[in-house]
Amino acid sequence: MEFLELVKRRESCRSYTGEPVSDADLKDIVEAGRLAPSACNSQPWKFYVVGSGGERMEKMRAAAQIAGNNKFAAKASAFIVVFREKPNYSERVGQVLFGREFSAIDIGLAVENIVLAATEKGLGTCILGMFTESAVKECIGLGKRDKRKVELVIAVGVPTSATPRPKKRKEESEVAVYLK
Ligand SMILES: Cc1cc2nc3c(=O)[nH]c(=O)nc-3n(C[C@H](O)[C@H](O)[C@H](O)COP(=O)(O)O)c2cc1C
Repeated sequence: MEFLELVKRRESCRSYTGEPVSDADLKDIVEAGRLAPSACNSQPWKFYVVGSGGERMEKMRAAAQIAGNNKFAAKASAFIVVFREKPNYSERVGQVLFGREFSAIDIGLAVENIVLAATEKGLGTCILGMFTESAVKECIGLGKRDKRKVELVIAVGVPTSATPRPKKRKEESEVAVYLK
């Protein structure tokens, strides 16, 4: 698929058929995340993939919801739980010297690679910033002593519709300045 077409096709999918997503597809899309660029090549991410059915999946579908939000996660077929890890030494030095935090940017780049790779396979995704963090951690087998923060959860599944919605975006003139 032509790249801009892929970008246009990617959207937050909030309606899934419930059909399974293959382990091979999940591996490919996580690989796209692993290959993302990061400041000082720090790669401050860790991906936990909940991909098969069963009790863990049921718990994850519930954990991806919070206070009535993300109900659609009940029909997602896989979840990728994204942790932000401590950046490497060079990135931390850069942070101190230049007063800039890059690791959240790094996570965003990896997550965008993941959702684009899924889109290319005809899968639907929704990046979730709202979820029940304690339940997500418990679901992937992390105890209370693990103090890492779950940065994002990505819901993955087979979309009920193959037709993308029109994008709601600011006008180009509002966001881009072309200098002559
Ligand atoms: C960091 C982040 C967190 C988000 N959290 C949620 C969420 O918890 N639930 C949800 O339905 N959508 C969530 N979204 C999806 C956004 O609402 C969506 O990307 C935005 O409205 C643009 O729509 P589109 O993705 O369909 O193009 C999140 C997106 C990002 C990037």
